[in-house]
Amino acid sequence: MASVLVTGPAGTLGSALIPKLVARGHDVRVLAHATAVDCLPPVQVVSGDVREGTGLLEAVAGVDAVIHAATSPFRRAKATEVEGTRQALLAADSVNAHFIYPSIVGVDQLSGTYYEAKWAAEQIVQTTKRWTIQRGTQFHPMLDRMLSHYLFPTTSRMAFQPLDVGEFADQLIALVEEAPAGRAEDFGGPELLPLREIVAARKAATKKHTVLVRLPPVGPLRALDAGRQLCPDHAHGQITWQQWLESIVALSGEPEG
Ligand SMILES: NC(=O)c1ccc[n+]([C@@H]2O[C@H](COP(=O)([O-])OP(=O)(O)OC[C@H]3O[C@@H](n4cnc5c(N)ncnc54)[C@H](OP(=O)(O)O)[C@@H]3O)[C@@H](O)[C@H]2O)c1
Repeated sequence: MASVLVTGPAGTLGSALIPKLVARGHDVRVLAHATAVDCLPPVQVVSGDVREGTGLLEAVAGVDAVIHAATSPFRRAKATEVEGTRQALLAADSVNAHFIYPSIVGVDQLSGTYYEAKWAAEQIVQTTKRWTIQRGTQFHPMLDRMLSHYLFPTTSRMAFQPLDVGEFADQLIALVEEAPAGRAEDFGGPELLPLREIVAARKAATKKHTVLVRLPPVGPLRALDAGRQLCPDHAHGQITWQQWLESIVALSGEPEG
């Protein structure tokens, strides 16, 4: 059993991690930020901000591992990823904790503020002593959110490898239970799906429609068209996009119009 700090507990990944860590018998502490987290004891809640570095020293006291799931892809992305990771890492180092950094497949080759910030943060993580970087492909809810825009750019070959966040959380917990591994092997969803099939399945299940706008594979689209966000040799996930869509439709009662 380990004592584990999770940053970003209100997020997609953080909220999947907490019940699983508790179920595995780990002592869990979380660094809560703006969103209130509804964690019952034995989970300990410390308030703080990774960008500002507040709360971190209290939060890491006595922990064996830190899973750094705090992030802010759409607002102050670079500062949160780079400075926030630096601050969390300093705190983890001060107690010799294993720092586990969830990242995204292809961040070193994809363009865009968020990917570039994650690549910079990965390089900071690698300067420390006890670290593991675990890259994953896009979580189902993230793809769903991306496609909530009515128009979405695509290229002739653009594809994704949707991943279940619970399966990624299980993988991170397995890392907690092992020695620091450095760059772990990528972890991807079970299937590579052309974006048009992802959109068609979502429309069939939920009635939500996205219009794909075909563009040439130039600029930031070039790397996505070339599949840098994919890891076909590491398709370890089991839960498919179709299964996830069916699960959210079942939860909501009936397809939304
Ligand atoms: N989403 C994906 O498809 C995907 C795929 C592979 C890897 N990953 C990686 O997995 C990690 C978690 O992603 P996610 O999708 O779970 O993100 P998310 O849903 O956006 O959650 C981010 C969390 O970080 C917290 N946070 C934001 N700014 C903060 C700050 N300054 N100080 C402390 N906490 C702060 C947020 O709390 P508040 O709401 O309270 O601000 C929230 O709880 C990220 O490193 C991401 O790159 C994501």
